[in-house]
Amino acid sequence: MEKTNVAIVGLGTVGTGVARLLLDHGDRTARHAGRTMWLKRAVVRDLAKPRDVDLPAGVVTESLDDVINDPEITVVAQLIGGLEPARTIMLQLMAAGKDIVTANKALLAEHGPELFTKARELGRSIAFEASVAGGIPIIANISQCLSANQILSMEGILNGTSNFIVTQMDEKGASYDDVVRKAQELGYAEADPTMDVDGTDAAQKLAILAHLAFGATVDWSQIPRTGIDRLDPTDLQYARELGYRIKLLAVAHLADDGLELSVAPTLVRIGTPIAEVRDAFNAIRVIGDAVGPVFYHGLGAGQMPTASAVVADLIDTAVGRTKLTFQTLEYFSIDQPPRVLLRD
Ligand code: NAP
Ligand code: HSE
Repeated sequence: MEKTNVAIVGLGTVGTGVARLLLDHGDRTARHAGRTMWLKRAVVRDLAKPRDVDLPAGVVTESLDDVINDPEITVVAQLIGGLEPARTIMLQLMAAGKDIVTANKALLAEHGPELFTKARELGRSIAFEASVAGGIPIIANISQCLSANQILSMEGILNGTSNFIVTQMDEKGASYDDVVRKAQELGYAEADPTMDVDGTDAAQKLAILAHLAFGATVDWSQIPRTGIDRLDPTDLQYARELGYRIKLLAVAHLADDGLELSVAPTLVRIGTPIAEVRDAFNAIRVIGDAVGPVFYHGLGAGQMPTASAVVADLIDTAVGRTKLTFQTLEYFSIDQPPRVLLRD
């Protein structure tokens, strides 16, 4: 059976989950890819740091050059968070002929145009299913499964940490600070959890989805956004008494005069599907002009749900499916994208 040599850069929460899936479940990748996905290298910052996965001798390295200079490694899961050095590493890897899989939405939302242009110039692919809504295959659905539609609207819960916090405060009376800490322990939160609770992470994900669904180039930082960090426990209590819950909703709506985008804590009626989305689950309701409403629900943060999306992208990349989808998708060249209305 053919073998694809894979590397991971960044062995944190997600990277460790990806290593586990590749090492423990090679049979699944063989079944779906028709080839073995072989974890040849994992690049870390600190060799001495204990890892929560048993890696074969010689796999872990502190040197990115061990990946860059190895022509046998063709696909790399780039799982460092933040902008730098993640951006530079991704550019170096693509220049060295590697296809990329990433979960880093902050990087794509900020430097997407540069990275995708470079990928096209170099004939490389960037797969990013894990960057939005963790284990829910929303990128594939919007860019492939619903491609016969004009998407009319998308609304959903795109940040698992915020949803975990409001659920625990609402249902268990937990204190805000305690639940933020718990979200960090569980591996849901960003390295800087401010990004989760102030709506930044949801706005970055919404910008990526809006680009795929509407062809609109959106500066995520211009999306009107309010996080859950300003909520008071009494807000949740009053909402409940009136028959509502409060959820951090990210909304994209195609109006007559353009595309409306927002991220904000929103009252949702108890008993509706979106109100019943609990803890680190995410949900997205998409309306397409042909398909009508479609509802996606699943874990949007956490080690294994996110690793599930990353490994699926690794397999797709190894068999060339990513190239056929994301690279031929004219990511930055839709003729008449809708005007983006940044109303507050
Ligand atoms: P994490 O636990 O902080 O892991 C990041 C890892 O990258 C850390 O182990 C860090 O090393 C390593 N790193 C940083 N700079 C490096 C360098 N120059 N060379 C090698 N390794 C380096 O973060 P994570 O939760 O796995 O998230 C990774 C990415 O996935 C982020 O972009 C995040 O937004 C995204 N994501 C996360 C989730 C989730 O549920 N956690 C879900 C979807 C997407 P140290 O251990 O030494 O700090
Ligand atoms: N910190 C993010 C969240 C991880 O809580 O949703 C998944 O992207």
